[in-house]
Amino acid sequence: MKILVVGTGAREHAICQALHEEAELYSIMSNQNPGIARISQFKIGSEMDIEGVKEHALKMRVEMAVIGPEAPLEHGIVDTLQEAGIPCVGPTSQAARIETDKAFMRDLFEEHKIPGSIAYGVFDNLKDAGDFIDDFGEDVVVKPVGLTGGKGVKIVGEHLKDSEDAKTYVKKIINNKIGGHASVVIEERLLGEEFTVQAMVDGDNLVPMPAVQDHPHAYEGDQGPITGGMGSYSEKNGLLPFLDQKNYDASVKVMEKTIKAVKKEGNPYKGVLYGQFMLCRDGPRLVEYNARFGDPEAMNVLPLLETSMVELCQGVVDGNLKKAQFHPQATVCKYLVPKGYPESGKAGQPIRVDEEKIEAEGGMVFYAAVNQKNNKVLTTGSRALAVVTAANSIQDAEERCERATKYVQGDLYHRSDVGTNELIEKRIQHMKEISG
Ligand code: GLY
Repeated sequence: MKILVVGTGAREHAICQALHEEAELYSIMSNQNPGIARISQFKIGSEMDIEGVKEHALKMRVEMAVIGPEAPLEHGIVDTLQEAGIPCVGPTSQAARIETDKAFMRDLFEEHKIPGSIAYGVFDNLKDAGDFIDDFGEDVVVKPVGLTGGKGVKIVGEHLKDSEDAKTYVKKIINNKIGGHASVVIEERLLGEEFTVQAMVDGDNLVPMPAVQDHPHAYEGDQGPITGGMGSYSEKNGLLPFLDQKNYDASVKVMEKTIKAVKKEGNPYKGVLYGQFMLCRDGPRLVEYNARFGDPEAMNVLPLLETSMVELCQGVVDGNLKKAQFHPQATVCKYLVPKGYPESGKAGQPIRVDEEKIEAEGGMVFYAAVNQKNNKVLTTGSRALAVVTAANSIQDAEERCERATKYVQGDLYHRSDVGTNELIEKRIQHMKEISG
């Protein structure tokens, strides 16, 4: 089967890796990702050039397209490809609003009484937003309504000092239309531990994957600026050291009810649904949805698939998804990023990766924001590559992963604490404190 994967990063490398043995694989990426390039027939082109993607897909006679990132989804890549007769793994722009329009997503929870909802308000004027913050009286989270590449959410107590700081940020969002809209969502601040559940969805049925925990802070000990995610881990039983079956099942239920609600609104959801949850004292609450796989979280789950990824994708487009099986192993993923990332990661720096030695540690390499030029791999400023290991325990996977990172050379840094016993114990203790 001819399958086209759209996107340039490590998430798309992981998708390609999961598909390539069973498919004739094509890709469109904005620069040459060496991992994707060697397993697909690739074209360099912008994933936002939707007409260009369509022309290429038609020319290559692809039978299905898998869309990696969210921005082309918002701009209707699936609508365009489907009109041209190419089935897609990815939601239409209307269905993708659960990620691209945060006001739509919160209102959906209220209107369809989906569990896991939280206190919130949507505002397009400073006066009402300010009154909400004052009346609420507790710490809030301020989010632009539209997409900001993961950089728009600010939390009082973390990125914002106090309520006055929150109001200043609201003003900035409204005046500058950050995220493309002059409006904000203001939400209660949730306390707990965050985790991710990803699922394939065929419009009605949802096939959930093992839970994963990402590490958004740039530096060790959860310090420093928020990034796209510096690394992640998963447990071999599909849960997490602080997340039991009951709360995992409750999260999946929230996602199932969301899919039903989106369908009732007239936009059946087909593609990948990423639920980011906070495990709070009283159970999981939804932080946000993404209309795609997570990055890095895709790299924790896709290498463990025992079920054929091609069959899963076919199930999504045909509307008859069946259960997926995952190899029962723990995983650890560590991102190596250019010095200065996320504010000023250096581009054009060479990196050298000894993939054989990494493989000897049981590791896999997923290339991200790099460009292959004249047999060199150069950074482009954002996260460069991820090393992922799977083993019988998180501890074993972490130790192998850490050793494997030594075989990557360049002006890079990574968080060596991701997946360590010490950090996981901190998560467990935090959850115990929250639960009283
Ligand atoms: N891990 C964060 C994201 O995929 O958006």
